[in-house]
This record gives sequence, structure tokens and C-alpha cells, in this order.
Amino acid sequence: MKLLNWYKIIFLSISSLLIFTANVWASSSSDGATLYKLKACVACHGVDGRTPRESIYPTIAGQSQAYIVAQMKDIKSGVRHNAQTEVMRGIMGAVSDAEIEAIAKWLATLPGGTGVVGEPTLVAKGAKVYKSKNTNCIGCHGADAKTPLLSDNFPKLAGQNKQYLITQITDIRDHVRNNGQTIVMTGITQGLNNKDIEAVAEWLASLPGSSASNVVAAKKEIPVKTEEPVVAKKEIPVAAPEVMEASADVMTMEGATLYKQKGCFACHGADAKTSFQPLAPKLAGQGKAYLITQLKDMKSGARDNDTTVMKGIMETVSEAEIEPIAKWLSSLPGGAGVIGNAALMAKGAEIYKSKETNCIGCHGADANTPLRPDHFPKLAGQNKQYLITQIQDIRNGVRNNGQAIVMTGITQGLSNQDIEAIAEWLASLNGPK
Ligand code: HEC
Ligand code: HEC
Ligand code: HEC
Ligand code: HEC
Repeated sequence: MKLLNWYKIIFLSISSLLIFTANVWASSSSDGATLYKLKACVACHGVDGRTPRESIYPTIAGQSQAYIVAQMKDIKSGVRHNAQTEVMRGIMGAVSDAEIEAIAKWLATLPGGTGVVGEPTLVAKGAKVYKSKNTNCIGCHGADAKTPLLSDNFPKLAGQNKQYLITQITDIRDHVRNNGQTIVMTGITQGLNNKDIEAVAEWLASLPGSSASNVVAAKKEIPVKTEEPVVAKKEIPVAAPEVMEASADVMTMEGATLYKQKGCFACHGADAKTSFQPLAPKLAGQGKAYLITQLKDMKSGARDNDTTVMKGIMETVSEAEIEPIAKWLSSLPGGAGVIGNAALMAKGAEIYKSKETNCIGCHGADANTPLRPDHFPKLAGQNKQYLITQIQDIRNGVRNNGQAIVMTGITQGLSNQDIEAIAEWLASLNGPK
């Protein structure tokens, strides 16, 4: 009996000691700076998170918190396994999820890399590639490369190490790095050769990274803006997408969230009618059933005209997610028409309404009320360049998914000039209400 009591006392004192040490540990583990040292991150990424041991290792100071968390988790689990990630994986075994959060929180408050002056012609070429409409790097990573549009998915790039940038862009292009949201970048990077990539990296590395103060500022929401005025012959702007003024219930629909999460806005605009690539169509107000068919066809590859970019993105969109996105898009008001060349518009209207083509028969006299909304798209207010490629592709049999075949015969007689005229006229009409 006595013996048992002694056991009890000893057991109780040991357990209270354990609880005590656990408390001490818990309080220190919430300190990201301490953990960063304790877990030996310093050894490879430098005391300040921006003086890495090897030039091929990244600067991590000043990066978005959520992005750091995602990358650390992916490196730990092996989902991200490209380039030099193996050297970090071992250490991650000793870092818990709670510790990842604490370290990331601290890293995000630090200033980023300072920028290293590069070779002037290469820097200039890199800036051009980054800002071009074809790559649209701006659309996701921001004009200054440190104000990404989705701070939780898209990394800051300004002031990052050149060698690290080169391996990452190359690996994403070549499907070697395929964790997280990288797929949205894969299509875009297909057209880049190694020289383009080196130039972009030279430019990005020359920019100053985030300063400690704008780390907080970068957390801002995508701005809200009212409907755009009609501007004749305006260029497709390369700027941050802006959200249209819409009723709160529309903006909180599931589809709206998915549309943002999947990065659709980067090319189609936050309001789905301000495209940032000349060939990306307006989607706002398009028929729901038509959108669903097209999204499914681009996902499966059944529609494969100029759709490489969309196919990559659709790999991240499940069948179940297509419906809410389409539903939301179809609920939005379409864009205002862009008035073009008067003679060309008149010619286009004439061809569209002629008995020979009978475009009216299927797409409606106003190009906004298709005969069969489930199969036939609305065309009014669509981007001119997009209309031209689509009509040509359908005429030439290059776009042959869905019901496109019903249009192939009719378009055989159209010359490229006819098609341009039709597009000029259709683009001048106001989009769906
Ligand atoms: C042994 C060296 C080493 C250690 C220790 C190490 N890392 Fe890394 N880390 C790397 C390398 C190398 C990469 C780049 C992997 C690649 O090439 O794709 C990397 C990548 C990262 C990334 C992704 C950066 C980005 O822009 O995508 C983050 C975040 C990161 N490390 C944080 C940490 C933290 C926090 C610690 C401490 C828990 C740590 N690392 C410890 C070598 C290391
Ligand atoms: C549609 C949006 C989108 C576009 C356009 C885009 N990116 Fe990205 N980029 C991303 C996302 C998302 C990631 C992060 C992937 C992940 O989840 O791991 C990324 C990652 C990167 C990385 C790796 C950064 C790191 O810290 O590891 C680099 C470098 C990069 N992008 C450069 C570019 C360049 C250069 C362009 C233009 C040629 C470009 N991106 C165009 C979305 C985009
Ligand atoms: C990197 C740029 C980019 C991103 C990101 C992107 N798209 Fe696209 N999208 C395009 C381009 C370019 C086309 C035109 C393809 C063609 O020429 O046939 C297109 C076509 C479409 C079409 C066909 C419209 C029609 O009238 O037939 C739909 C629908 C669409 N996209 C929806 C989406 C959705 C939803 C997302 C997000 C899950 C998305 N897109 C993300 C560039 C993009
Ligand atoms: C017999 C019905 C029919 C006629 C007539 C017709 N179309 Fe179409 N059009 C369609 C169908 C169906 C589609 C969608 C194809 C698919 O399922 O992918 C389409 C698609 C289009 C698209 C692609 C829109 C987008 O958002 O991707 C354009 C542009 C277009 N038609 C223009 C015209 C023009 C201009 C004419 C007259 C020269 C015309 N169509 C005549 C049935 C028709």
C-alpha cells in the first residue's frame, strides 16, 4: 500500500514536470524567429532569409505568408519535388504544421531581396517578355512583380535570386514542378525558350523586393470599380483586373470564389468582360449551358483550337466545379460594345444579316438571343480578335467540337476580310444585359 502511494507521488511529480516543460516549449514554438534558428533554416537561407548559402536557393524573406506555408508543406510531403527540394525535405520532418505557420508569419514581415543590377540588354528584354500580352506574367504576379493578385497562391518574384528563378520557371514549363497552382502557369510558359527565361530572371532579380512596410500593404483586396465607359478602338489594357460593381449576393456565389481561386480573372478579367489577353474571350452573360460544354470540351481536349492555355487550367477545375463557375458567369451583365470603323461595321452587319450566311437564324438578330441557348453562343460585345480566330477556326475545321459543324458549311464562302467586318460589327454591340 505504502509503496503504491510513493509510486503515485513520483508519477504525479513527473507528469507535472512534463506539463511544465511542454508549456515552455509551446510558448517558444509560437516565436517564428526562434524556430527559424532552431530548425536550422539559417544554414541554407541565411540569418535574414535573403542571403542563401547557394545562389540556386531561394530568398524567402518578405514572401507572402500563405505561399510560404503552402510551399513548406508541399516540400515536406514530397508533392513539390523539383530541383533542390530534396536538400530541404529532411529538415521538414522535424517541423510541425504549427511551426510552419509561425515561421511563415515571421518571414512575411521581413524585407525581401534588395535587387542585383543586371546586364542592361538582358534586363530590358526580360521586362518586355514579362510585360507582354502573350505571357501576361503581370496578370498574376503584378506589374512590379511583388503585388500578386492572389496573395495566397501567387508568389512575389521581385528581388528573387536569378539562378533560382531560372530553375523554377524552367521546371514549371517542363512539368517538373507541378505542385500547388503551378498548372495555371504551364500553358503560358510553353512559348518561352531558355533565353527568354534567363532574360526574365535577370530582370526580376534586378528589382527590389518587398520592403517591410509594403508587406502589409500588399494584403489589399482586388479593388471594386464601376462599369467601363465605351471607348472607341481602345487597346486591350494590361493592368490589374478590377472587379465590377455588383450586388453582394452575386459576388459571394460559389462560382465567384472558384473563378478567383483558379486564376480565371488573370486572363478574362475580374469582371469576366475585361480580357487581358487579346485572344481571351469575354464570358460575362454568356449562356450557362454553352459555357459548361465549352469548359468540358477544353478540359477533355475535344475543343483544341488555341486552347493549350485553357487546357492546362482546366486540369485544376473538377467537373463539379464547372457548373457553379458557369452559373455565376452567366448571371453577370456583359460588357459594353467597342465602336469600330464605320464602313467595316456596316459591311459586317450586312453579311451577318444576309440570307446566305443566316447568322441571324442561329445567333439572333441582335446576336444576343440565340435560337438554342443551350448550344449556340451569344456573340454581341465579344472581343474582335477572339471572334476572328473563332470564325476562321470553325470555317477551317480547326475548331470542331460540340455543334460547330452546323456552322462550317455557312462559313465556307467567307473571306478573311468578310470575317474581319463581321467581327468589327459584333464587337461594337452591347453585350448581354
Ligand atoms: C539544407 C538546406 C535547406 C534548409 C536547412 C532549409 N531549406 Fe528551404 N529550401 C532549400 C532549397 C534548396 C530550396 C529550393 C528548392 C528548389 O530548388 O525547388 C528551398 C525552398 C524553400 C521554400 C520555397 C520558396 C519558394 O519561393 O517557393 C521555403 C518557403 C523554404 N525553403 C523555407 C525554409 C524554412 C522555413 C526552413 C527551416 C525550417 C528551411 N527552408 C530549411 C534549402 C533549405
Ligand atoms: C495565371 C497566373 C500566372 C501567370 C500568368 C504566371 N504565373 Fe508564375 N506562378 C503562378 C502560380 C500560381 C505560382 C505558384 C505555384 C505553386 O502553387 O506552387 C507561380 C510561380 C512562379 C514562380 C516560382 C516562384 C517561387 O518562389 O518559387 C516563378 C519564378 C514564376 N511564377 C514566374 C512567372 C513568369 C516569369 C510568368 C510569365 C512568363 C508567370 N510566372 C506567369 C501563377 C502565374
Ligand atoms: C492564361 C489565360 C487564361 C486563363 C487563366 C483562363 N483562360 Fe479561359 N480562355 C483563354 C483563352 C486564350 C481562350 C480562347 C481559346 C481559343 O482561342 O479557342 C479562353 C476561352 C475560354 C472559354 C470559351 C469561351 C467561348 O466563348 O467559347 C471559357 C468558357 C473560358 N475560357 C473560361 C475560363 C475559366 C472558367 C477559367 C478559370 C477556370 C479560365 N477561362 C482561365 C485564356 C485563359
Ligand atoms: C446553324 C446554326 C448556326 C449558324 C447559321 C451560325 N452559327 Fe455560329 N455557332 C453555332 C454553334 C452551334 C456554335 C457553337 C459551336 C460549339 O458547340 O462549340 C457557334 C459558334 C460561333 C462562334 C464562336 C463563339 C464563341 O464564343 O466561341 C462565333 C464567333 C460564331 N458562331 C459566329 C457566327 C457567324 C458570324 C455566323 C454567320 C456567318 C454564324 N455563326 C452562323 C451555330 C451557328
